[in-house]
Amino acid sequence: MSLPTIPTLPLVSSDPNAKIPVIGFGVGTTWFKRGADEDTLSPETVDAISTALKLNYTHIDGAETYKTEPEIGEALHKSSIPRKDLFVVTKLNDNLDDVQNAFSESLKKLGTDYVDLYLLHQPYFRHKEGGEEKLKAVWKEIEKIYESGRAKAIGVSNFDVEDLELLFTFATHKPSYNQIEFHPQLAPSQALLDLHRKHNILTSAYAPLTPILTARQDPSAPTPKVAKTVEEIGKKYGKTPGQVLLRWVLDQDSVVITTSKREERLKEYLGALGWELTKEEIDRIREDGSKEKKRAFWGQIEYLKKKDAAEGF
Ligand SMILES: NC(=O)c1ccc[n+]([C@@H]2O[C@H](COP(=O)([O-])OP(=O)(O)OC[C@H]3O[C@@H](n4cnc5c(N)ncnc54)[C@H](OP(=O)(O)O)[C@@H]3O)[C@@H](O)[C@H]2O)c1
Repeated sequence: MSLPTIPTLPLVSSDPNAKIPVIGFGVGTTWFKRGADEDTLSPETVDAISTALKLNYTHIDGAETYKTEPEIGEALHKSSIPRKDLFVVTKLNDNLDDVQNAFSESLKKLGTDYVDLYLLHQPYFRHKEGGEEKLKAVWKEIEKIYESGRAKAIGVSNFDVEDLELLFTFATHKPSYNQIEFHPQLAPSQALLDLHRKHNILTSAYAPLTPILTARQDPSAPTPKVAKTVEEIGKKYGKTPGQVLLRWVLDQDSVVITTSKREERLKEYLGALGWELTKEEIDRIREDGSKEKKRAFWGQIEYLKKKDAAEGF
């Protein structure tokens, strides 16, 4: 069976021909390294990235904080895919006080002299005292990296409307991408999507499969109704619930970031390509998901805890 090529979307970048594959292979979550493992190269992770590359996943989503940049570097080094045909993303989270050094370290670990996209991983520090000034200082450093050509494009992650609006008050270069938790149980507001569109910011969805992964956080939690909805809709198209959830995001002009330890699953995800949900199906999935809201990541942040409680999570 021949493998599909993952389609691309244009992205605002210093490279006028920049295109980002719409499905990215994430090297966080399941691959995250902690504690004693942080300094040891994981052959399992390198192999998984190599498998993803073999299956045409040329968009690799990394981050300083995942500690897996060396594994990405090793897999890219072993791959015969030319650098220009890869789309390498990393994110800044830990070393906010020395952004230039953090970025240089990321490049060294990735074994490349540029990234296609460099992201500020989260805005949550700005909700603490003095945080707005810090956000400005960090973004100015990221802009310098962009101007140096070592990051072809720059963006953010986990930014909501008020975070972006603050950034716009001082940004010389606006972000061209915002990677957010995006699935039926945590759909972005229309205001955020409109702001993205107005400022040419590409939406990117992480944790897209959350409705079918209830056991990931709480094995005793009931399966949400929307998981049944996507299963039922999938039967109409001969698609799995996972493929419907990926399609649901793609059909809203977003890039999607997923991952798997299994080659078969990575092949399954490619079945999200080449067909479309109807507008009614997209709305029904959103409506069902909105009745059982859930945040899979970052929920321990005090600012978000309050916000989620106010919104009835
Ligand atoms: N910017 C941020 O703050 C942020 C936060 C979180 C994630 N991310 C990025 O997004 C990437 C993907 O996040 P994610 O892992 O949450 O994505 P996801 O696509 O929601 O979940 C992927 C997981 O789903 C499992 N899975 C898939 N189909 C399944 C099924 N039918 N039954 C049971 N399990 C199934 C896979 O397990 P198997 O391995 O068993 O297939 C895999 O571990 C991360 O690696 C990271 O790069 C970014």
